[in-house]
Formats: sequence, C-alpha cells, structure tokens
Amino acid sequence: MSSLDLTEAQIAVHWKEEEYFYPPKSFVEQANLKDPNVTKRFALENFPQCFNEYGELLTWYKKWDQTLDSSNPPFWKWFVGGKINASFNCLDRHLATHKGKAAYIFVPEMENEPLQIITYYELYNRVNEFAALLRDFCGLKTGDRVTIHMPLVPELPITMLACARLGVVHSVVFGGFSGAACGQRIADSGSRVLISMDSYYRSGQLIDHKEKVDLAVATAKQEGQAVDKVLVWRRHAGQYHSQTPMVSNRDFYVDEILKNYTDQKVEPVQMDATAPLFIMYTSGTTAKPKGIQHGTGGYLSYVTATSKYILDIHQEDIYWCMADIGWITGHSYIVYGPLSLGTSSVLYEGVPTYPDAGRPWRIAQRLGVNIFHTAPTAIRMLRKVGPNEPARYNYHFKLMVTVGEPIEPEVWRWYYNAVGKKEAVIVDTWWQTENGGFLCSTKPALDPMKPGSAGPGVPGIHPVIYDEEGKEVPPGGQAGNICIRNPWPGIMQTIWKDPDRFVQTYYAKYNKDPKSKNWRDWPYFAGDGALQATDGYFRILGRVDDVINVAGHRLGTKELESACLMCPEVAEAAVVPVIDEARGRMPEVYIALKPGIQPSERIEKDVVKQIETLIGKIARPKSVRIVPDMPKTRAISNRMPVGDVTTLANPEVVEQIRVMVQGAGPVETTTNVAEDIKNFGRE
Ligand code: WTA
Repeated sequence: MSSLDLTEAQIAVHWKEEEYFYPPKSFVEQANLKDPNVTKRFALENFPQCFNEYGELLTWYKKWDQTLDSSNPPFWKWFVGGKINASFNCLDRHLATHKGKAAYIFVPEMENEPLQIITYYELYNRVNEFAALLRDFCGLKTGDRVTIHMPLVPELPITMLACARLGVVHSVVFGGFSGAACGQRIADSGSRVLISMDSYYRSGQLIDHKEKVDLAVATAKQEGQAVDKVLVWRRHAGQYHSQTPMVSNRDFYVDEILKNYTDQKVEPVQMDATAPLFIMYTSGTTAKPKGIQHGTGGYLSYVTATSKYILDIHQEDIYWCMADIGWITGHSYIVYGPLSLGTSSVLYEGVPTYPDAGRPWRIAQRLGVNIFHTAPTAIRMLRKVGPNEPARYNYHFKLMVTVGEPIEPEVWRWYYNAVGKKEAVIVDTWWQTENGGFLCSTKPALDPMKPGSAGPGVPGIHPVIYDEEGKEVPPGGQAGNICIRNPWPGIMQTIWKDPDRFVQTYYAKYNKDPKSKNWRDWPYFAGDGALQATDGYFRILGRVDDVINVAGHRLGTKELESACLMCPEVAEAAVVPVIDEARGRMPEVYIALKPGIQPSERIEKDVVKQIETLIGKIARPKSVRIVPDMPKTRAISNRMPVGDVTTLANPEVVEQIRVMVQGAGPVETTTNVAEDIKNFGRE
C-alpha cells in the first residue's frame, strides 16, 4: 500500500493511553448486570448454549429445538424450530402487567405543540389497526416486502410493528435520503407498497417530504419494480402539507383509510425464529447499497438482552435515544429492544439544537429522562454551541451512551463532566448495521470506562485483531482489522438476494477453508481498524474500506463518485474522507472534466446538486475541487506529508493539487456553525 493510500484507520489521530473512570456505587447497586461471573458464563467453551438465556427473555409460541445451527457457514441459524412474533413481544405480552404505561412520549419539534403520550395499550391498538389496513387494503402477506420512507414520528414504529405482526419484511429508508435513493432500495427489495408521510418539522420549518415519492416510484419503475400503492401518513391528520399532488388510485391518506379499521385486531403471525424481520440498506464498497437482512428470534433476543444489560433499562426508567429510527440504532434501540422490555421511551422529532442548544436538557428535565443515548457528532455539536447549557437544567442521568463513530477523549470528558454531571456511567458501544446490536462496550456496572475506547467484547462476543496476513495481533500490539471469532444471535442472516457478496464481504478475508463446516473457521470481518490495549479494551480507529462515516452515518465513496459522474461535464471523480470538526468525517470530492470543458463554479454546484438528488443532503461534500487529473489524495486533504508518489502514473498532478488544496483553496460548501445546526442530523 502506498502512503497515498492511507486508510481511515491510519489517519486516525494517535491518542495516548487514558485514565479509567469508575461507575458510582449507586449505579452498581441497582444494575441489571452485576454478576462478574457473566464473562465465564459467556466464555467460548459455553458457546452457543450461553445465548439460551437471551432467547429466554422473549415469549415464544414454541420454544426452539436447537440454539444454533452452524452447519452451513457463514449462514448462521439461531433458535431453530422456535416460533415467535416480534410485534407480540413488543406489545401484547406487556398488556397484562402494564397496558397503561407509556411506550413512547413523542416530543414534537415545535415547543408549543403538545406532547403525545402513547401507552402500550394505545400502541397495541394503533399497530393492530394499521396491520389490518396493510393486510386488507394493500393485500400484504407474510414474506412480502414494504419500503418505509418516513421521518421520526410515532407512526414510523407503528408501521414497522404492523409489518412485523403480519410477518411482512420492512425496509426502512432514512427519511433524509433522496427520492432516487429510496427508489433504488424499493427496487432491490421488491416492494410494491411504499409508506411515506406528507411533512415533518425540521429547525422550525414544516418540510415537504411527500415530494420525494414521485421520484422514488419512477426510479423503482426504471429498475423494474412497480409500486402500486403509496400510503401517506399526514403529520397533522386531515391537513395535507405538500406541494406535490396525490396521484389517484396510487396515493392514499392513511388517516382516511384507517377509519375503516377502527379497533380491529389482527392475530400476530407465528413466525419461524429464522424468518426475516427486516432489511436495512447500508453502504459498502460498490455503488450499490447492501440490503442487510436480519432475522426474527436471534435479532430480537440480542437487542432485548443488550438493552437490559448494557443500556441497563429498568421498568421505572425513562429512556431517550436521540437517533433516527431510519438507522440501525433506532431499529434496535428505539423500537425492538426497548419495546420488548416494556420501556418508556422519548421520541423527539427534531434537531437537538432547535430552538437552542438547551433543548435536549430541557426535554430531559421535563420528562425525567435518566438514560440518554446519542452519537459523538451530536455531542460535539452541543458542546460547540452550548457548552454550559446542561448545567442550567435539573436532570440526572444514570447512564449515557455514545455510538456510531469514535469519540475523541476531549469530547468524551465534556459528555462525562458537563452532560453526565460526573454521576452518569458512559457506555461507548461499537457495532454496525450488520451486527444487530452491541459488539464492544464496557459492562456498565462491572468495567471501568476509558475515554475513547469502546471496551471489551460484550458478553458472548469474542473480538480479535488480525493483521493483513491473518496473524493474530496480541493485546498491546499494533493496529489491525477487528474481527469476531464466533457468531452471535444479532448477526445479519445474509445480504438480501446476494449471498455471494455476503460471504465475500464479511467472511472470505480470514476464512482459510471455504469448505469448513466449523464456525471457528469463519471469523466475522467488520471492516474497521482497531487497537487492543493490554487491558483488553478495543479502540476503534475507523473504516478500512471505501466507506466514509459522516456524522455517524455510512456513505460509500463509490456511491458518491457515481453520482458525480451523472454530471455531463465530469470525466472522473474521486471521493475521499476529510476530517471535520463537527461531523468527524466528511466527503471531499475531486473531479476531472472532459476534454475542452472549462472549470466553473456552476459545475461544482451541479456536482453538489447531483449528490443531493441521488443520495440526499446528508452526503453533501465539504468541498468540490476541479483538478487536472485524478490521484488518490486524502493524504493531501488532511495536511499530511504527501509521501512517496513514485508509484503514481502522474506524479506531477499531486504537486498541482497540493498547491490547490493547501494553498489558496476553492470555495467550500458551507461548514459554518449556523448552517450545521440548521441541517443537523437530517439534511
Ligand atoms: C463506526 C452504527 C467507533 C464503525 C451502529 C462501524 C464506531 C460503523 C462506533 C457502523 C464506536 C460505530 N466507536 N466507531 N462506538 N460505533 N462505529 O452500520 O466504523 O451505521 O463500522 O452502525 O460506525 O455504522 P452503522
């Protein structure tokens, strides 16, 4: 590898060893997981039956016959023979004991709009009615796929749980993705029903969301998938807030049709434990996103157990995960894990800094939130614009979570001191869309915290660092590729319709014998660089593939590059990650133009527009640079030495670009704080 080809992991700053922080006694005493024996119980010798206790947290129609069927690696089958329904576990099973308890407390972005408190019984009713509509009005049945493109409102988990009740596989597309990106995912999943919403609040504005539907449907059609029904929830029932007309016989207002299903009940379908529950698309190394397929029994048991033991959720807690449900964090730790435990969760519609940087702490104070879950990008933003805000509010967190990207020790300390008021335990949870739930984290009552380190593998997860040649790197050694030695119940089942890519991407690298039927020969390759310290804690350095982690969200450089090539003037495009103060990483775009075309600001703007249209505003580059030719240039962007260029065909271009980038740079797309705040998290 040439020094120009630095991986994310190598770019990551070299942090010094950090001191430990210990959980307060009051936390330890009340914790769900305080038995130090857990490590032994979940040792590899006890694999896979150690995970039976996770399965036992759920309610089954029929118990499993086999904990793990590993006879066809790496297609693991958990809780084989078991029959279960995820919606039943999240709703029905709580009704006997706490049907009046709040499942969700929805906080609209506008502070003058009333809170919506949705009890378990009300959620159960609404899920049943919507399931009846999906079944009878849309004709959906077990095994069908449905694409859901919605903002963060209670109707989103209602829609997901209604699908789960019927055994319909949901594919939720993050609301901030463009219509074209949604259409591509509709086509890949083979959905003939799209569920959308007219509008939602963002930074005080009612944003038109339904406008994305027509392009989504057209894109899907181009790729061979017809959409015959679009269900449109309305942010305010009865009022339509969108500029685009409803298409007759295709688009339907949910609130109107739902009237025909008032108080109807739908028996949950008894699903095989191994039946797919949902698909979630995530970026990879090619331009085509991967449909990560999760199963029912394994996934649900894993998110339930980790919500209980790592998030330490108790019946009386008020839990708030500030993620969007359109990402895996929301699926696992806003919807399935917490609801399966019967948790009261806060759902907040808007940006954390609207109308000011005190908003999250005001919500926490008002609702009595005591478990708070967010990402470093939000922590950095809140620290930047309101470092002293938390002190102004009277709330008390017992536990706080960080997820999605490495957190700088400095930022960690602000989270601990200012947000947590030195009384909350922090868990830095490392995992991925593919994993279903946490892989590395400290056990909150048992392990000390270390800023910037995710910690050891959680119970039953056995991580290892391999070098490029597949040699194990011992604790205290250099950085390498973090892998997991064993399967676990939350692991994806496959890539939707692409089992070969599944094997290639996650298992081929370190599998020495493709014919082996022994799970020990199939370590899971995560695609992240990491270091293991002598205490066994893992420090995650970042992606080792062509994926950029922007504000905790994965974008493929190939997806971005192919969007740039949609501009007729562009001959070549290269996208590299650059360090950004608030978002961690941002994409930076380099383009070379076709012969005879003069560089212009208009072309730079068109490139940004194409990216926004084809992927979404979240992918907006930090800057677009028109260059004479195309080497890989991330070393230059990050102001590191250029290194050895002799292996390049066009070494002179590196110097030209270096002068451009480090010298009088071109116009950057906005990265000022005000813009950042306005667009925060959603774009
Ligand atoms: C990164 C999000 C450092 C990592 C749950 C991973 C992290 C990618 C952490 C997955 C963490 C996630 N510390 N890096 N605590 N958590 N990552 O699929 O690079 O959206 O591969 O899942 O985020 O992102 P994804």
